[in-house]
Amino acid sequence: MKKLNIGIILGSTRQGRVSPQVGKWVKEIAQQHEDVNYEILDIVDYNLPFLGTGTGKERGIIAWKTKLSSMDGFVFIVQEYNHSITGALKNALDSAYEEWNNKAAGIVSYGSTGGARAAEHLRGILGELSVATVSAHPTLSIFTDFTKSKVFKPADFHTNYVAKMLDQILLWSRALKTVRKS
Ligand SMILES: Cc1cc2nc3c(=O)[nH]c(=O)nc-3n(C[C@H](O)[C@H](O)[C@H](O)COP(=O)(O)O)c2cc1C
Repeated sequence: MKKLNIGIILGSTRQGRVSPQVGKWVKEIAQQHEDVNYEILDIVDYNLPFLGTGTGKERGIIAWKTKLSSMDGFVFIVQEYNHSITGALKNALDSAYEEWNNKAAGIVSYGSTGGARAAEHLRGILGELSVATVSAHPTLSIFTDFTKSKVFKPADFHTNYVAKMLDQILLWSRALKTVRKS
């Protein structure tokens, strides 16, 4: 059977962001976990125009949709901005539709309350895109899992929970692959 492709999406794009550190950590845990292709998807690389401001046929949009199409499931690295997700992530979500449908996803979030409020907003949005979100949801504290809010130093206990989330994503990603073929 072909290996699953799981995209680890970095939700923030600001200069000085910590999301690449969190994405790298998730990828390292994932690679020890099961023989699946994991890839970091950085929204910055796609230079997506703000939805509706262009033709919709810009190279970045085509590349983003093509990349999403090749994925079977996702891990969203989510940071809380004003009790929600970043504008950049919302725009990236809005910039595709069929490419998201009938896939599975997990959320790893961070913020002062573990990014919980942003993560719950994201669950609602993903429901509308027919993305099935798994229940295991590692929440990282900006106060205790980062040094000075900048250097990522996660508590050890998060690792097992990330692995549990990955188990759930892979199970549903396999199941939904058959749904997409039917
Ligand atoms: C515009 C803005 C709004 C924020 N709002 C919140 C918030 O509502 N709740 C929270 O816990 N943290 C909030 N934060 C703190 C961020 O969660 C924190 O800076 C985090 O590191 C951002 O992720 P990033 O470094 O990957 O961009 C906010 C940060 C910014 C820049």
